Amino acid sequence: MEQVFESRRISFVRVSEQLVPDYLIMINDTENVGRYFAGQKEPYTVEQEIDWVRKTLEENAEVFSMIEKSSGEFIGNIELREELGIALTGAMQNKGYGSEAVSALLEYGFEELKLPEIRLRTALTNARARHVYRKCGFREYDRTDEHLCMEINRDDLRVVMAEKGTALAQELLHFVEECSWLEVRDHVAGLIRDWQFTDWEGMFAARCDGRIVGMASIMKTDYYPLPEIFPWVSCLFVCEDYRGRRISEKLIEAANGYARSLGFSRTYIPSESEGLYEKYGYRYLKDIENYGGGVDHLFVKDL
Ligand SMILES: CC(C)(COP(=O)(O)OP(=O)(O)OC[C@H]1O[C@@H](n2cnc3c(N)ncnc32)[C@H](O)[C@@H]1OP(=O)(O)O)[C@@H](O)C(=O)NCCC(=O)NCCS
Repeated sequence: MEQVFESRRISFVRVSEQLVPDYLIMINDTENVGRYFAGQKEPYTVEQEIDWVRKTLEENAEVFSMIEKSSGEFIGNIELREELGIALTGAMQNKGYGSEAVSALLEYGFEELKLPEIRLRTALTNARARHVYRKCGFREYDRTDEHLCMEINRDDLRVVMAEKGTALAQELLHFVEECSWLEVRDHVAGLIRDWQFTDWEGMFAARCDGRIVGMASIMKTDYYPLPEIFPWVSCLFVCEDYRGRRISEKLIEAANGYARSLGFSRTYIPSESEGLYEKYGYRYLKDIENYGGGVDHLFVKDL
C-alpha cells in the first residue's frame, strides 16, 4: 500500500480493496461508528465498499486509510474532500489517534496541498469529535439544529508534532537556529539536527500565519540530575512578536495531550519564576538544583 504521508504512529495510505473487510467492520459497527453518520439503514456490502474504493481511486480523491505503524493494523479512514471527515474503528478510538490524524492531515492539507482553509461538520451530540477538532485548532463558524460547522484557516494557530526527516523538522531547526533564546538555542538545534530524541521524546511546533512561532519539547531528562522524574515539558519558547496570545498554553496542552495518550499521568516543568505555570494547572512541588549549581522551582501537573 502506497504511503502518502505519516505521523508519529500512523501511516496514511491510499484506500485499497485489500482493506475492504476492515472498512466493513468499521462502518457497519453501529454503536461505535455508524451512529455518527446519518443515512444508511442496511449494513454496507462488500460490493458497495469495492465500488467506493474504485471510485475514490479514479477520482484521485484525498481519502486515506490509516495504518498503525507498530502493528500494521487498520485504524480508520480520513478524508479531505469539500470537508474533512474521519472515522476510526471502535478498537482504535480514545487512544489519541484521532487527534494525531487530524493534526497530520491539517499539516498535509495546508503545507502540501496549499489549501487556504479546511472545514467540517459534526453532530452537536458528538462531544468527543468536537473536543478533538477544537484541540486541533478548528473553531465554530455556524450551526444548525443538528450540526456544528467548524473551520480552520492556513494562518490560524495550530500545534504540530515534528517528525524526523520531515519538512517541518527542517523548518523547526531553522526556527531554533534563528531564535533569540541564546542560552538554549545551540543545545536544542543540536537535538533536532542529529535527532537525538529517543522512544516517545519529541518536539512540538506552533504554527501561525504560515510560519513557526513557538516550540516545546517533551523529554525524559532536563538540566537536572533527577532521572526518576519524567516526562519533562521543556524548551518552551514563543517568539517575541507572538507573545501574549496564549500560544505557550497551546504548546503545553499539546505536550500534555500527547503524554496522556502515552499513558503518563503527570508532566513536570522546571522554572526560575513563580506564577506562570500555575495558570496552566501546574502546582509547585519543590526546589531542585540544576547541573550549573543554580536552584529552580519544579512544577507538576496531574493529567
Ligand atoms: C471522533 C474520533 C475521530 C476521535 O478520535 P479518537 O482517537 O477516539 O480521539 P482521541 O483519543 O484523539 O481524543 C479523544 C479526546 O476526546 C475526549 N473525549 C472523549 N470522550 C469525550 C466526550 N464524551 N466528551 C468530550 N470529550 C471527550 C478525550 O478525553 C480526549 O481528550 P484529550 O485528548 O484532550 O485527552 C473517533 O472517536 C471516531 O472515529 N469516532 C466515531 C466516528 C466519528 O464520530 N467521526 C467524526 C464524525 S464528525
